[in-house]
Amino acid sequence: KRFPEIIINFKIYTEGFGKAGHRIAEAAETVMNETGVIIGIAPGYMDLHPMSMHYSLPVYAQHIDPVKPGAGTGHILADAVVSAGACGTLINHSEKRLTLADISLAVEIAKSVHLETIVCTNDVFTSAAAAAFSPEFIAIEPPELIGSGVSVSSADPGIIENSVRAVKNVSGSTKVLAGAGIHSGNCIKTAMDLGADGVLLASGVVKAKDPYAVLTDLAGGVI
Ligand code: G3P
Repeated sequence: KRFPEIIINFKIYTEGFGKAGHRIAEAAETVMNETGVIIGIAPGYMDLHPMSMHYSLPVYAQHIDPVKPGAGTGHILADAVVSAGACGTLINHSEKRLTLADISLAVEIAKSVHLETIVCTNDVFTSAAAAAFSPEFIAIEPPELIGSGVSVSSADPGIIENSVRAVKNVSGSTKVLAGAGIHSGNCIKTAMDLGADGVLLASGVVKAKDPYAVLTDLAGGVI
């Protein structure tokens, strides 16, 4: 099974949902078809089902709650995310943090319904801790660089290198994504040279005037 090398988190940006979100998904699909680089998308919940139907891109939820079906209200169920067509989910994004106990339960529940797990972490220690849950991915994102336009690859290469080492020591099969400020093919190339398997990014694509051009450049960094 091939996993994505680039995952775009649409967050709750105005440019990221409804019609505007489709423009980004369309660009991602075109670039994936043109380059063979697998591009995943993490749109908002309302767009999970339509985007899973419309595109061949792997679709991820931005979060799930660590709950099982039953008497609960207003929670995001892993089962419902699967039935909406998603193949996986982010867990513990810096903008939607969970406790360690909740990360553990969310990963367990996701695995039980065959949802790929991307656990986001903020430093090398949390990367090592999250690796104990053997998620498919760990996405290391220094919070201070998120949305900054300054790439983790250039501003903090050590956090990528050390997270990769820490994760692989604990869980050899877990892939590592680097995120925060990623905006170009060069950022991806550097991250991959440091041992990352791919990147998780948002503003560089979602807020771009021409998402197709940015994605083409990004994919060039993988090839
Ligand atoms: O989930 C990806 C994200 O937190 C990184 O954001 O805007 O720095 O690419 P950005």
